[in-house]
Amino acid sequence: MPATLSALRAGTGRRLLAAFRGEQTDRVPVWFMRQAGRALPEYRALRADLDLVSMTHRPELVAEVTAQPVRRYGVDAAILFSDIVSPLEAIGVELAIRPGVGPVIASPLRTPADLRVLRPFEPDLDAPWLGQAVRLCTAELDVPVIGFVGGPFTLASYLVEGGPSKAQEHTRALMLSDERTWRALLDALCDIALASAAAQVAAGADAVQVFDSWIGSLSPDHYERYVLPVVRRLFDGLAGLGVPRVYFGVGTGHLLELMARAQPDVLGVDWRVPIELARARVPATIALQGNLDPTICLAPWQIVEAEALSLLGRAPARGYVFNLGHGVLPATSPATMQRLVELVHSQSVRNE
Ligand code: CP3
Repeated sequence: MPATLSALRAGTGRRLLAAFRGEQTDRVPVWFMRQAGRALPEYRALRADLDLVSMTHRPELVAEVTAQPVRRYGVDAAILFSDIVSPLEAIGVELAIRPGVGPVIASPLRTPADLRVLRPFEPDLDAPWLGQAVRLCTAELDVPVIGFVGGPFTLASYLVEGGPSKAQEHTRALMLSDERTWRALLDALCDIALASAAAQVAAGADAVQVFDSWIGSLSPDHYERYVLPVVRRLFDGLAGLGVPRVYFGVGTGHLLELMARAQPDVLGVDWRVPIELARARVPATIALQGNLDPTICLAPWQIVEAEALSLLGRAPARGYVFNLGHGVLPATSPATMQRLVELVHSQSVRNE
């Protein structure tokens, strides 16, 4: 990378990475989950003739889609354009990613024998496009690039249900009825996630977020017993990569203390928990990210502004990254997101 570019990256990158490390920043950094793809017309134009999986195999397209929200919104981070099921596709799990629906698995996993399909993921051989894409992104962008993986429970839920589901019944039934198979399944998915994260960081990703989107369907007791041990192993393994690690799930108000026990550097909070209450419940050593209700961004600007200012007023003074409580909704106006970034930056000026 040319010296000027790397200096620029180090400069602008400071804000997000410093907040991830728990430090106070000149302004509150902001980015949005699911900011790449989905709501942007320039993404839809590119995506028109291609399916999502083929797009992820083309590094120059991935770099372009990853950069689009940075250019348009002025956010403080890029998130790699990919999907949580991409490593599964790369090792040969037959699946499709349906627009507006999500991943659909050709042969759902239900028996111990079905687990054979989950062979180890070797990114250099199975998905050479992954490292290439991250390298292009980090070379072209002057903000940090966040890599990501799916949490073991969330990936298991797609594999076992065969697709998206509200309550993950088959998944939780397997968990309760065959603990041995369950542990083998989660262990395999943890290893796949670790390999994917390691490849992304080796190629230059500046941070890693674990999307464990669907753990909210678990009781605290079941989360602690059947999921937390493997999540701890995942976060212990990620620690070796030397970049900040973010842990996020939806509907996790009853799980925050347990999630914190995985010792992420940053905990992502959804909109159902007021940020100041999350701050009081999670150890001060863990930074927070969140948590504007994505639906608010569909409302008139005055409402978005009032709600965002309220959140900024209640958010921690240090170790805080502004984000939505879940992904940008497809119907969101890009103009709203752009104004929101400007608002967060202008209303959070602080002396470092
Ligand atoms: O932030 C970004 O936009 C980067 C790219 C990204 C995608 N998927 C691309 C995508 C990221 C970070 C993801 C993560 C992901 N994928 C999660 C975790 C985050 C969350 O929202 O909880 C989950 C659960 C998935 C699985 C998935 N993939 C679902 C549920 C869907 C359907 C909903 C939707 O967004 O339409 C997808 C499809 C998908 N993944 C699309 C994109 C851009 C849209 C479909 C398309 O363009 O073909």
